[in-house]
Amino acid sequence: MISVFEPVIGEEEINAVVMALRRGEISGSFGESIVRFEQEFAEYCGCKYGVAVSSGTAALHLAVAAAGIGPGEEVLVSASTNIATALAVFHHGAVPVPVDSEEITWNLNLDLIESLITSRTRAIIPVHLYGHPVDMDRLCEIARRHNLLVIEDCAESHGATCRGKKTGSFGDMGCFGFYANKVITTGEGGMVLTNDKVLAERLRLLRNLAFTKPRFRHELAGYNFRMTSYQAAMGIVQLHKIEQIIAEKRRVAHTYHRYLSDIPGLQLPSEASWARNVYWMYAMVVQPEFGISRDQLMEWLSREGIDTRTFFCPMNQQPCLQSQPGFREIPCPVADKLWERGLYLPSSYTLSEATIQSIAESIRRATQQAKKITL
Ligand SMILES: Cc1ncc(COP(=O)(O)O)c(C=O)c1O
Repeated sequence: MISVFEPVIGEEEINAVVMALRRGEISGSFGESIVRFEQEFAEYCGCKYGVAVSSGTAALHLAVAAAGIGPGEEVLVSASTNIATALAVFHHGAVPVPVDSEEITWNLNLDLIESLITSRTRAIIPVHLYGHPVDMDRLCEIARRHNLLVIEDCAESHGATCRGKKTGSFGDMGCFGFYANKVITTGEGGMVLTNDKVLAERLRLLRNLAFTKPRFRHELAGYNFRMTSYQAAMGIVQLHKIEQIIAEKRRVAHTYHRYLSDIPGLQLPSEASWARNVYWMYAMVVQPEFGISRDQLMEWLSREGIDTRTFFCPMNQQPCLQSQPGFREIPCPVADKLWERGLYLPSSYTLSEATIQSIAESIRRATQQAKKITL
């Protein structure tokens, strides 16, 4: 089976972890690697401060906590996203409000934001889906006009840029994940970036159970979201390779484009003129003209040894969110359609041109077969 993604862990990553362990860098409170990883990753993204945490989910939780968002408040969130984005709001007692997607980049539709703002709205969490950045200049202008905080979900967009500026550096905070399938990985892990010194201090405090003085007496209810130091050592090595990894991800995407773009009924990923898409995953939408449904195509590919995944189930359809008091039933027809018709293909950055070509040929056979049957 050609899997949707295979992480590449080299000797350099292994040596960095072993050396960190030999230096006694075990937990998140000791050693040099955490601070170095935080500084280097923040600098790469064009931010002043980085706070490393245990996952992308933890990064989002910590950002929402540091923003002081809570019961009685609402946060606008991209409808089409990993459930983790909405849960960060939900678990703080605030209501995540879905913003439907737009048709081309599949990111949240900025034209809808103002109609969803109420007196309870505190923040917007845009998700840079599958590696394509949201137009952050426009989103931040809307947020400023309405005095809303912006927390970017960059779990899928490390290194993606909007008019040359990296995702994660536009909002009040930018949240990253370093899970095994992410652009760079520490196995599990995450980071919150900010340019605000006060927020950075608050994030650090809340990450570590809000220990202050005297020790063991706590003014604030914090969390243990610490990253282990040997994971940070691996992160530093991965970060040094990030531009190479992005170049390979873009090569994979361009190769898919070349072999798939003449097949009718497939909407392929886009790249706006102002954007650098890092193509975290190579996603596409199966239109009716293709001849068979998205699910039939997935079954076909699976039989041919090619693994795929669907797009996300949108927030408006999530039972765990629908049962929350204050849940707002907002129709999201585009995100619903993406959930029904979207899938992503194997996207390891080590895929050869021959493998990509064979996947594309399998997709072409699927549509040709379907058209023969309906003739
Ligand atoms: C958009 C988005 N947000 C948040 C997360 C959660 O990250 P993690 O799995 O590191 O908790 C993911 C993970 O895949 C994601 O894709």
